[in-house]
Order: sequence, then C-alpha cells, then structure tokens
Amino acid sequence: METYFSISIDYVATDGVLNYPLFINSSALADRPRYIRIRTIGDETAHEELKELRNKYGQIYVRELDRELYVDFLLGEQSEFKLEDRAQAIKDLTIQHLEKVFTPSTTETKLDSLKDTIYACRDSVVYLNKVIKDCDLEKIHHLISNINFHDFYTFDHSINVCLYNMYLFKQLRPNAKEEKIIDAGLSGLLHDLGKVKIPTSLINKPGKLSHEEFSLMKEHVRFGQSMLTDIETGLKGIDVPLIKNVVYQHHENYDGSGYPEGKSGNSIDMVARMTSYADFFDAVTTKRAYHQPLPLDAALQVMEGTKGMKLDPSMFSFVANSLKNYRKELNVGDEMLVMDPAFDPCRPCEELPLKKEIVQEKNFGQVIVGGKNDLRNKLNKITKKK
Ligand SMILES: [Fe+2]
Ligand SMILES: [Fe+2]
Repeated sequence: METYFSISIDYVATDGVLNYPLFINSSALADRPRYIRIRTIGDETAHEELKELRNKYGQIYVRELDRELYVDFLLGEQSEFKLEDRAQAIKDLTIQHLEKVFTPSTTETKLDSLKDTIYACRDSVVYLNKVIKDCDLEKIHHLISNINFHDFYTFDHSINVCLYNMYLFKQLRPNAKEEKIIDAGLSGLLHDLGKVKIPTSLINKPGKLSHEEFSLMKEHVRFGQSMLTDIETGLKGIDVPLIKNVVYQHHENYDGSGYPEGKSGNSIDMVARMTSYADFFDAVTTKRAYHQPLPLDAALQVMEGTKGMKLDPSMFSFVANSLKNYRKELNVGDEMLVMDPAFDPCRPCEELPLKKEIVQEKNFGQVIVGGKNDLRNKLNKITKKK
C-alpha cells in the first residue's frame, strides 16, 4: 500500500514548475484515507489555488516514494528557501517519524514497523546533516531556537541532540566519512528511545521526582537497549551496536559516577561521551516546560565546571572554540556558575540547580580522572559566594 506524508504549503515553491506530485486526502474517514493527485510533475504550482485546496481538505501530501524529489527541491542549489525554512521542513518530516517511534503500541506490537521507522529516521538524519553542513555551533543553536517548538521534551530534544552530535563528531573527526557522521546523528536522535516506556507524566513532571520515580526514569537506558536488541538482526546498514552503546551509556559520567554501570573515562563509547555533552548542552540552553535556558557562554562555563566529572574533558575545547567570545581561562577570584553534581538532563527541575562560586585555584579547569571523589576534591577548590 502506498504511503504519504503531509507537508506544509509554505514549503511548496511559490512560483514555477513542480518536480514532484501533490495529493489531498478526500476521505472524511480517518482509517480509510483516499488520496487524490492534485498536481503532477511539470505542473505550475498555482499557489493560491493550492491554498484553497489545503483549506478545504486540511493537508497537502507527498507520496513516500517521492520523498527524495521533495527533499532535493527543498535542499537543492536552486532552493528559494532560507536556512530556517529548510530546517523547519526537515524537522517536520523527522517529527512524523519520531511520532511513530515514540508511540508505545507501535514499538511493542509492531517491531517491523519500528525497523522501517528507524530507516526513515536515518534518511531524516542525512537531510538534517545537509541542512547544517555550513553551520557552526552558534548557528545551530540559533536555528534550534528559531524553528517551531513541537513539544517541550522528547521530539525537539532528540532532534537537537542529533544536530549537536553531528556537529561535534565533525569537530572531533574532521576526516570522517559521511556514513559515520550520520551514525553519530542517528545515535543522538534515538538516545532517549527507552523513554517510550516511561509515563509522559513523569517525563514532564515539573516538580522533584521521588526516589522511586527517578529510579524508573533511569531505566530508560536499559529499555532502549532491549528494544534495539529485539530488532537489531533486521537492521542492515545501520550501526546498531554503536546506537545501543549510546542508548545504554549516555548517562555514564566521565568520573564513573553515572549510570547504569558507573563506567568511566574511555571505557565509555566515544559517541556516548559526545552524546552526554550534547544532552547536557541542550538541557541547559533550550527552553523547557520547567526552566528557562542559559545563554551559550554561561552554559559553557557551567560545562567547563563539570568537565572531567560529568563530561569528557577532551571534548570541551571543541565546544569552547566554537564560541567566538568565550573566555577560555578562569582565574583566581573569578566568579563562575557551578551545577549541582546531581543534575541529570533527564530529571525535570523547576530551576536549574546552579550556584555562583568564586574560583580559588588557578588550575580549576584541570582534570584528574579517578573516582567519585574527584567531584568533592574539585568542589573543595572553590568557595560559595556570599
Ligand atoms: Fe537520557
Ligand atoms: Fe536526553
């Protein structure tokens, strides 16, 4: 059976000739759609008339098999659309796939459909990579802040982590093949897959989670891993072991204080360490249902304070170098923001748990990797600001 996806009329060329056919659904029955072609390849767009059809039938559709033609038009050299519009259009497509991934009945009862959806997600990551190909970190953040919210958590967050992962991967591995960049992006897109098994009320709960609730929340890493294990044999051409590592390890901390296993340093997969960065960065810089975002330089300062504890220190310079005006060194007497070590990007909080501190030692940012005590040692080097 042929499948279709809806597109916004804003992303159909205002003038000129179409290079893909357009459809409307003329059926009033939700379970029995009836798609009718309203434009074929080579037709004039006739935008005003198209708008009337959209207003009458609610949506304009493209056939799944024409997806590439549609995306070529959007992202091609001749594209008349601004970067924000292209990002928005590809984000809309990606969300349609994520909605299938994060629908519990689909994942539990139709594993084949989950496989197909993961392939479709991979295609979306290829398109997202094309959209951000010339963007630096600030530009990507700007883009994220300027395209529409879909939800306050899962979908927007997954796409953001995907974008940051691809950016970071390219910084860390400048000669990487596109395939590897896409694997890193897809790992980011699916890193919180296991949350499909966590009640939404918990994911968006603005207050503090109880011990039991947080214990359940932490299980999303195991849930995601086992969902991928169930379908991995059918996923050819996708680096499933990598994605499983990222799904399972993205809450491990560099100093061994994370979960589920308390792995430390380089025993955590490199892409999982990178995903922790992206996860943290997105959690503190993006508006959530339950807290206001930090500006980029403040976010970086907070991340600098946790490097070697929560985050891999070797990745910090790649992030810091991406911000033109970021002050690279902290001196004795400088004020800095310090994040509560218990902060978890997956744990909702009404306000980010930050404190202002004064740097007491010149080499505050230097890192010694060892055990959980690193955190205490490091925090001993600063004193609370009065
Ligand atoms: Fe997570
Ligand atoms: Fe996350």
